[in-house]
Amino acid sequence: MWQGRLGIVVLLLVAALIAAPAYVGSGRGARDGQVEVYSWWTGPGEEDGLRAMIGDFEAKNPGLHLINAAVSGGAGSNAKAILASRLLADDPPDSYQRHAGLELADDVRSGKVADLTSLYAEQRWTAVLPRGLLDKLTIDGKLYSVPVNIHRANLIWYRPATLRSLGIAGPPRSWAQFRQQAATIRAKGLTPLTVGPEWTRKHLLETVLLGELGPDGYEALWRGSAAWSRPETLAALDVFREVLAQSDVGSGAADWQPQLDRVTAGSAVYAVMGDWTYSYLAITKKLAWDKDFAVAASPGSDGVFDFLSDSFTLPTGARHPDLARRWLVECGSAAGQDLFNPLKGSIPARTDADANHYTGYLRWSLWQWRDPRTRIVGSLTHGVVADNAWNAEIDTALGLFLRDRDTAKFARTVANAYEDTR
Ligand code: GAL
Repeated sequence: MWQGRLGIVVLLLVAALIAAPAYVGSGRGARDGQVEVYSWWTGPGEEDGLRAMIGDFEAKNPGLHLINAAVSGGAGSNAKAILASRLLADDPPDSYQRHAGLELADDVRSGKVADLTSLYAEQRWTAVLPRGLLDKLTIDGKLYSVPVNIHRANLIWYRPATLRSLGIAGPPRSWAQFRQQAATIRAKGLTPLTVGPEWTRKHLLETVLLGELGPDGYEALWRGSAAWSRPETLAALDVFREVLAQSDVGSGAADWQPQLDRVTAGSAVYAVMGDWTYSYLAITKKLAWDKDFAVAASPGSDGVFDFLSDSFTLPTGARHPDLARRWLVECGSAAGQDLFNPLKGSIPARTDADANHYTGYLRWSLWQWRDPRTRIVGSLTHGVVADNAWNAEIDTALGLFLRDRDTAKFARTVANAYEDTR
């Protein structure tokens, strides 16, 4: 098991180093007056949001220059591997992106990130961040990273014109309905559902599990191994297998943006993806929200908000910890969040941010997030509910599943991996 995992880590590192920008590995190059910030936001929209926040940071801190050490690849697919090698080599950036939840908790337990509780007290952040989110940033009473946003994962994107041309009244409200629609769609020669690289398939898996098991059943999966052997879970995995059979998994897109391009081009009807899609379609592609493209809760998950949050850390051993703290102040500020999020396609982590900045889809998202009737659960793919070791095992099991489509074996492997990684 360990040898297999080591092999995968080495492969990831090699792939990541090939994708890395020239300065990676030479992090010691950040000079005094410079602060190196590491993320995976290089695509249009997300990069614009980051740059807006950087501009505000540099304006408020004259003489300070921020080095934007971003590494491309959706969901941090390359960035996380390169970061791991830098942390291993004691060469951390001054601040790096981490998801709130168990992804961050791993770094806390291994001593990679510094305690930010005093910065929270100084900036009075606990009064302006939701309790549930604070819990995902706290270990043993101490706070370890600063959230910039809230994203929603359980969404299905489509083009109303495509549905009209197919005579389909609206997006599917359950996965059973999706499968009925898929027959109509295929008869017309279109792809019912488009997917991208492996992380997008895991993202699809989590939304199918959520839609089929409901929020309680979904959450039970991440609390231990027991729920994986239940007949309901096996049935939900069978649905995942059938959903995949209605997708272009054999010739999936290279990343989430080209995946969405297949929807806007009209060759595929649906894509399940997080709401960073909104920024890509509305801002980068300049498509009109609710006209050229639209979105709904992924099948079976209406009223549930499968959340994730991007946050920034202060690594232990950062070369410029004082400057990094200033960057974190920017991340946690209402001004920074209101500059970043409308461009990023996310809503602010702060509860006091100005709602008027959020229009179109983002207004709906903010309203859903704040509605007390909404049920909030955490994302698997984006770091909330499973730690990195278990998540890596789930990746391996999913890779095998995509080849053999053996749901019972997948469930068994994931349950065993939970026990093995404790
Ligand atoms: C998520 C991240 C988002 C967005 C997305 C696609 O993991 O939290 O901010 O970057 O990946 O790359």
